[in-house]
Amino acid sequence: MAKILVTGGTGYIGSHTVVELQNAGFEVVIIDNLSNSNIGVLDGIEKISGIRPTFVEGDVTDLDTLRNLFEQHPGIKGIINFAASKAVNESVEKPLKYYRNNLVSLLNLLDLMPQYGVEGIVFSSSCTVYGEPDVNPIDESAPIKTATSPYGNTKQIAEEIITDTIKAGAPFKSILLRYFNPVGAHPSAEIGELPLGVPQNLIPYLTQTAAGVREVLTVFGNDYNTPDGSCIRDFIDVVDLAKAHVIAMKRMLDSKDSDSVEVFNLGTGNGLSVLQLIESFERATGVKVNYKIGPRREGDIEKIWAEPAKANNILGWKANVDIDDTMRNAWRWQKKISGLS
Ligand code: WQD
Repeated sequence: MAKILVTGGTGYIGSHTVVELQNAGFEVVIIDNLSNSNIGVLDGIEKISGIRPTFVEGDVTDLDTLRNLFEQHPGIKGIINFAASKAVNESVEKPLKYYRNNLVSLLNLLDLMPQYGVEGIVFSSSCTVYGEPDVNPIDESAPIKTATSPYGNTKQIAEEIITDTIKAGAPFKSILLRYFNPVGAHPSAEIGELPLGVPQNLIPYLTQTAAGVREVLTVFGNDYNTPDGSCIRDFIDVVDLAKAHVIAMKRMLDSKDSDSVEVFNLGTGNGLSVLQLIESFERATGVKVNYKIGPRREGDIEKIWAEPAKANNILGWKANVDIDDTMRNAWRWQKKISGLS
């Protein structure tokens, strides 16, 4: 089957996607600069799939590195572009880092794709492009709102860059995948999320608190206009999310349309509050989470969850891992990396 380049393939969503691509018979080449992951992830991937992916350590923002990769690994048919910086707060402090990492990398890929006969690119976008929705669940036709962080802006601009390039006649296709909140880990506990430093996202903070790495989880606000006052999100299991990429890749490579751009929301369609998620974790694992209510976090969206009908109907993809199973997998992974039994 086809050879696929996965940028950022040792990262959180990337590594889970590499496993699913290999399970589906694709040959995978990873490029990653290991800025937010480590080489040991390749062992985890190999343990699960039985195949060690080809790995190139390098930076997608460097055009020569990328050109060498295409020369040395001819016949790449598709790209999944995960390589990006993703910490919202850091992006406010270091906007140029975000614009450079997230956009120069994309420009390089789009520049080289025609020369090397790459037929399509699947792009990791985010529900952040919707800002605070006027209605929930939110579908793909909802307006794109002004981004509230440079990180969010890179996702919006990247979508526009891809769309404009294809509109201008570039000989490839693209599928833009707007992720809601990816959580969990592979059920084998061989791969999962590896946050560097103090986690900014809810689940790694929660599992680290449960493991005793952090003392207390702060719930950022319980005075929102939601049933229990905490924010609502659409938490999507990372393995479900990974599988959507395989389907998107097959669809893209099979399509006869040479100039198409499609966009899909990837979420469960169910909104769950922060407090409900903590409850799910406690129920699923039997472990109590030490948490307290704190002030709101600046810039947080009150509630957002996906209308995934388009992905359900057109991709034939549906999220199906139960949230309690997702929490059990997240906990199994946390215990493994914390050395707990
Ligand atoms: C979820 C909810 C917090 C930590 C961000 C990006 C988005 C995407 C994923 C990815 C919120 C609450 C969190 C904590 C808490 N980008 N929370 N205590 O903000 O929905 O999305 O990450 O790479 O683009 O914006 O995710 O996990 O940070 O927060 O109460 O210690 O959990 O307030 O309501 P978010 P999150």
